Amino acid sequence: MLCGTRAYLMAQNKMWGGRFEGGPAAIMEVITPSIDFDKRMAAQDIAGSRAHARMLAMQQIIPQADAEAIIRGLDMIEKEIEQGKFTYSRQLEDIHLNIESRLKELIGEPAGRLHTARSRNDQVVTDFRLWLREACARAEAGLEELQRALFAQAEIHYATIMPGYTHMQPAQPVTFGHHCLAYVEMFYRDRGRFGDCGKRLNECPLGSAALAGTPYPIDRDVTAKALGFARPMRNSLDAVSARDFALEYLAACTIMATNISRLAGEIVQWSTPAFGFVRLSDAFTTGSSIMPQKRNPDAAELIRGKTGRVLGDFVALATVVKGLALAYGTDLQEDKERVFDAADTVEVSLAAMAGMLADLKVNDATMRAAAEAGYPTATDLADWIVSTLRKPFREAHHIAGAIVKRAEDLNLPLAGLPLAEMQAIEPGITDAVFDVLSLDASVKARMSFGGTAPDRVREQLFFWREKLK
Ligand code: ARG
Repeated sequence: MLCGTRAYLMAQNKMWGGRFEGGPAAIMEVITPSIDFDKRMAAQDIAGSRAHARMLAMQQIIPQADAEAIIRGLDMIEKEIEQGKFTYSRQLEDIHLNIESRLKELIGEPAGRLHTARSRNDQVVTDFRLWLREACARAEAGLEELQRALFAQAEIHYATIMPGYTHMQPAQPVTFGHHCLAYVEMFYRDRGRFGDCGKRLNECPLGSAALAGTPYPIDRDVTAKALGFARPMRNSLDAVSARDFALEYLAACTIMATNISRLAGEIVQWSTPAFGFVRLSDAFTTGSSIMPQKRNPDAAELIRGKTGRVLGDFVALATVVKGLALAYGTDLQEDKERVFDAADTVEVSLAAMAGMLADLKVNDATMRAAAEAGYPTATDLADWIVSTLRKPFREAHHIAGAIVKRAEDLNLPLAGLPLAEMQAIEPGITDAVFDVLSLDASVKARMSFGGTAPDRVREQLFFWREKLK
C-alpha cells in the first residue's frame, strides 16, 4: 500500500506546500488523512464555504463575481457528491482540501480566494458543530419514536400485573404499563440532554481563523446567521480548541446507551423461557445454527453490548482532549471517528429497540403467575394489620412474616391461606384481610402520586399522550 502511493508522495502538497522542498514520508499518507471519515461532513463544509464566500463579497473582501463563481462551483461539487461522482483523494488529506482543490479545477483562479480570512481550524469545527447539531436532532427524534413504542405497550398493559423486583427478588406487584412508562421517563431525560447539547453547541466558530481572529473586516454575525447558529463564538482561541460540545454529545450518548441497555437486558431476561413474560417477533429474533429450538434476542443483546462501545468513544475523546494546550492541535482530528461511531451506534440502537418493542407480545398470564409466586402482597398484609389493628409497622411486619412462613409451609399463596391459620398467629385478623391480599387489590391500592395503581398509570398515559403528540 505504501509503495503504490509513492509516486505522489514525492510531490509537494499543492494546497500548503509552498515552503516545502521535499515530499512527505510514505507513512505520512497513512497517518495524516482524515478524508476517509470526514467526508461525512461534505454537506456541512459546502454550506460553511457558501456562507463564508457570500460574506467575503458582502464585505468587499473578495470581488462579487468571484464569490458567484465560488458558489456556482460549490453547487456543482455538491451535485457530484450527491451523485457519487466526486473522487476523494487521500493526498488532499481532508474534506476541506478535497473540496477546495476540486473547486480550483472547476472554476480556476477565483477558488483561491475562498480561504481568505479562514483557516481549516475554524472551518473543521464549524462543520463539526453543524454535523452534531443534526445528530442531536436525530437522537431526539429516535428517542421520541422509542417513547412512542413504549407508550403503545403501556396503553395496552396499564393494568397488566407483573412482579415488581428489588434485588431481582419479587417485591411487590406492579403493572407492565407502569414499567414501560418508567423507561418513557428515562428516555425523556435523554431527549433533554441531546436537546441541551444541540442548543449549547449552536455557536459559530467561523471567522476565528487559525486561532487569533483575522485582520480582514469580516462580519461574523452574517456567517453565523446564514448557518443557523445563534451567535458567533466570543473567543477565537476557545472557538478552534473547544471540543467539550463533542464530549457533551458523547456523554449524552453514553447515558442514553446505559439507559437503553437496562431495557435491553430486561427484554433478554423476559424473553427467556424461564421467565416467558414476553415473546419477541420473528423479525427481531434469530435462530441458532445448531439448536433448532432457539429464538435468540440478538437485537436486545447487541443493544446492551453496544453500550460499552459508546462509553469507549466518550473515554477515547476525553483522553485526547485532556491536557491539550490551546489552541488547535491535530490531536483533535481524532474527534470525528469517535463521534460518528457513537452517533451511528445510538441511532441504530434506538431504531432496533423501537421496532422490537412495537412487535413485542406480552404473556399476561405468565407474568401474573410469576407475580403470584413470591408472596408479593406480604407488605399489603402488614399495612392492613397497621391500619385495621392499629399495630406499629415493625410489629405488623413481624406478624406478616410469620404468616408468610406458614403459607410457605403449606405451599399456599397468601390469599389462599385459611383465616384460621392467620388467626392462630394474630387473633385480631378478620376475613376483611382478603380484600388486600390479591394482586389486583395490591396494585389498585398504590394510589400515591407516581404509584403503580392502574388509575395512576392512566393519568401518566394522559400526560404522555399530550407530550408525544
Ligand atoms: N483534518 C483536520 C481535522 O480534522 C482539519 C485541519 C486542521 N488544520 C491543520 N492545519 N491541520 O481536525
